[in-house]
Amino acid sequence: MTDSPAPSPAGPHRPDVSGARDAQDAEVLRERAVAALLTARERTTLLTDSVDDHELAAQHSPLMSPLVWDLAHIGNQEELWLLRGVGGREAMRPEIDGLYDAFEHPRATRTSLPLLAPAEARSYAAEVRGRALDVLGSTPLGGRPLLRSAFAFGMIAQHEQQHDETMLITHQLRSGPAALSAPEPPRAAGAATLPAEVLIPGGPFTMGTSTEPWALDNERPAHRREVPAFFLDTAPVTCGAYRAFIEDGGYTERRWWTPEGWAMVRKHELTAPLFWRRESGQWLRRRFGVTEPVPADEPVLHVSWYEADAYARWACRRLPTEAEWEKAARHDPATDRSRRYPWGDGDPAPEHANLGQRHLRPAPAGAYPAGRSPSGAGQLIGDVWEWTSSDFLPYPGFAPFPYREYSEVFFGPGHKVLRGGSFAVDAVACRGTFRNWDLPVRRQIFSGFRTASDA
Ligand SMILES: [Fe+2]
Repeated sequence: MTDSPAPSPAGPHRPDVSGARDAQDAEVLRERAVAALLTARERTTLLTDSVDDHELAAQHSPLMSPLVWDLAHIGNQEELWLLRGVGGREAMRPEIDGLYDAFEHPRATRTSLPLLAPAEARSYAAEVRGRALDVLGSTPLGGRPLLRSAFAFGMIAQHEQQHDETMLITHQLRSGPAALSAPEPPRAAGAATLPAEVLIPGGPFTMGTSTEPWALDNERPAHRREVPAFFLDTAPVTCGAYRAFIEDGGYTERRWWTPEGWAMVRKHELTAPLFWRRESGQWLRRRFGVTEPVPADEPVLHVSWYEADAYARWACRRLPTEAEWEKAARHDPATDRSRRYPWGDGDPAPEHANLGQRHLRPAPAGAYPAGRSPSGAGQLIGDVWEWTSSDFLPYPGFAPFPYREYSEVFFGPGHKVLRGGSFAVDAVACRGTFRNWDLPVRRQIFSGFRTASDA
């Protein structure tokens, strides 16, 4: 995904909210929007208060913005969409719009801009938030596409959570002692008895959604998709399995790699996932300021699409297509219905999935038995973003909403789709239909994968 630009509201296909029952639904959505905005702000505050002002304004990696840019950008987008767009209010600080337009300034250049200082950025974001909650409380929902199902508020909560994930990547890239801490994720009871793969029977299923209120344009509309039978790994590929690939010459044998992937390996002299290093015969990794042995049973993290694809070829398998991934995650063969999540239609709870930065690492393969899909595949939601073999393309009937730059300009063969969300994704920005995309070289993101084979 990308940073988002200035608005140009337009808009198709939102479910309508009208009548008494719909008014009740609108009230539920309003409460849900308030809760989602508050949850996002709590996390933003944690991520930005856990380092001092010097670190907040510093560039920790040319790949990332300074954290203070993300903070004010979150406020600026909220002002653009909710105060000016929905509320019709005057611009609070029109002179800063250009500074926080993600399309105008590449990340590596953002420290050279006259950005708001940390205290100013905090008070700007807080003031916008106070006014946005007033707008939410006083604006009737329905009518304009942006207001149906409180969509604009849900979109802004997702936007803030997506930047929180981005800021967590910045935390991972910064050097120095740990600034964040979190409890360990649950262990995987009985993982040893799990089958290595599950069979997904062939046939059509419903992909995407036309009913999820806060689904983004690229998840729409729902459509039928034929998927032949295939096998899918029960869990994401672990560090232990990936280590076997490395030790079998994975990074030294050209035959496992696409030409572009091999060129990347040679150019950057890659020998292992990002943040791994070998010392005295042992694999270590750096994770949020702590160096620790690589855990064999944990899903592998920080691999590019090229590495995932090469591993799959080495293992005599392949990456799943995006449609295969979604069918395995959502399709219930007993009813021929697609669920919102692998476990059903209920929102994610802590027993289902590792989401929301509740833990600062993926859970071991085999954890979260309550979160498995009807096929028996686990950890499809949360833990690690899963690379698929598919390019990021529109669904049949796609219509851009609320602006072309959200998804449409990124469609094409340059971006590969990732599914399922990581431990760093909040539930508001993670669904069975949610689509993420990135360049195939990207490694700093919380990316892993699982493999598939034809049945
Ligand atoms: Fe953004």
